[in-house]
Amino acid sequence: MAKTHTFTCNACGASSTKWSGRCEACGEWNSIVEEAPLSAGPAKKSLGGKRGRALNLTDLSSDEVPPPRTHSGIAELDRVLGGGLVPSSAILVGGDPGIGKSTLLLQAAASFARKGLKTIYVSGEEASAQVRMRADRLGLRDAPVQLATETNLRDILTTLETEKPQLAIIDSIQTMWADNVESAPGSVSQVRAAAHELTTFAKRRGMSVILVGHVTKDGQIAGPRVIEHMVDTVLYFEGERGHQFRILRAVKNRFGPADEIGVFEMTGNGLSEVTNPSALFLSERDKPAPGSVVFAGIEGTRPVLCELQALVAPSPHSQARRAVVGWDSGRLAMILAVLEARCGIPFTGLDVYLNVAGGMRITEPAADLAVAAALLSAREDTALPADTVVFGEISLSGALRPVGQTENRLKEAAKLGFSGAIAPSGGKTSGAGGLNIQKMPDLTAFVGEIFGAG
Ligand code: TYD
Ligand code: MG
Repeated sequence: MAKTHTFTCNACGASSTKWSGRCEACGEWNSIVEEAPLSAGPAKKSLGGKRGRALNLTDLSSDEVPPPRTHSGIAELDRVLGGGLVPSSAILVGGDPGIGKSTLLLQAAASFARKGLKTIYVSGEEASAQVRMRADRLGLRDAPVQLATETNLRDILTTLETEKPQLAIIDSIQTMWADNVESAPGSVSQVRAAAHELTTFAKRRGMSVILVGHVTKDGQIAGPRVIEHMVDTVLYFEGERGHQFRILRAVKNRFGPADEIGVFEMTGNGLSEVTNPSALFLSERDKPAPGSVVFAGIEGTRPVLCELQALVAPSPHSQARRAVVGWDSGRLAMILAVLEARCGIPFTGLDVYLNVAGGMRITEPAADLAVAAALLSAREDTALPADTVVFGEISLSGALRPVGQTENRLKEAAKLGFSGAIAPSGGKTSGAGGLNIQKMPDLTAFVGEIFGAG
């Protein structure tokens, strides 16, 4: 029988039967590698007539109390976890190399250990001396965390079996190496096998495990997406280089709301919590300028205000530039198209730059109106009324759609000293806290009202 080859994408883990330059599942270029064929698995024949064990069926109602959670005491982390660490849970923390994952997890390990969890930190990347030096810098020298430096999965599992910790942190999953899998550490098969072993071990033994995964752009080693489906909670640690703010974002959580964020600041001695992100994101804002608009957003369960900045300038090139930091470039193209088609405001021949200040990344469609406002304000060289926040979703017809949690957005704006808001008509604005709200049915009305018919 001819040997079947499997080709796997290092970025998303999709497998195919032939090699190609671009992964059809995730669109990444040059990320497909040949893998040793997975085990043939059970025979291809059907199960046959042999009888198995009948399962005990139960109904959905239960008297079981929800699992007790352990709070680390780092409030930003506890919130992102959905209210503390759940016993026997598997958590993946992904992020770019150098963003601060090891720092965050060493601090988390120390906090959990101080709350009484028996905690083991396994580093596969750094020597013990390096980890200890970091602990020193973070002021965690006397935290009751047990440290090991190892990459051999079998040895790690044996250690965990004898030590029986309540929390194990594996930094990073890409350095782990299972001796029953014949491929290099960091390959899709190794990362999958190691993650599978560790998560099943954790579930069986009642231990929580936190896996660190590097996000890689070059496809040389398998990224964390390959194992997202195996774990209960997926957190991404993000931030812009050159900014000291770091955002821990839950993208999947079986034990709490997804989309929750925790905000941290990288300082000379570790990550410190940012309890009022809105104040922080707006702190560098000076007097209202054309192109600057404050967006009242919601991240998870929490309102976060941030500043959008746009610059529109005649383009020296035949193909005008569109550059975005912190927002989706496809969505920007859509807003530009709607402005042109529905309001007759063209951006042809103009370079457009859009930036979310402070290194924040916005994914909410509610930012549409704030983006449109920033673009128009930059194009017309007119500053928006000071102390006004903007939010609302724009549909392709040019109509404005009300967005969720309008009242929370307005309350946060009022709390931070804003006096007005521009919002779609139709949203619930009762508890607005004395804000002067301008309600707009569509984009044309908005342009007419704010920029005098454009
Ligand atoms: P690290 O946690 O090693 O990143 P990762 O594990 O995600 O690769 O952190 C790397 C960066 O953080 C490094 O450039 C130094 C910086 N840093 C600080 O600014 N302050 C600190 O207290 C620590 C420990 C690191
Ligand atoms: Mg690290």
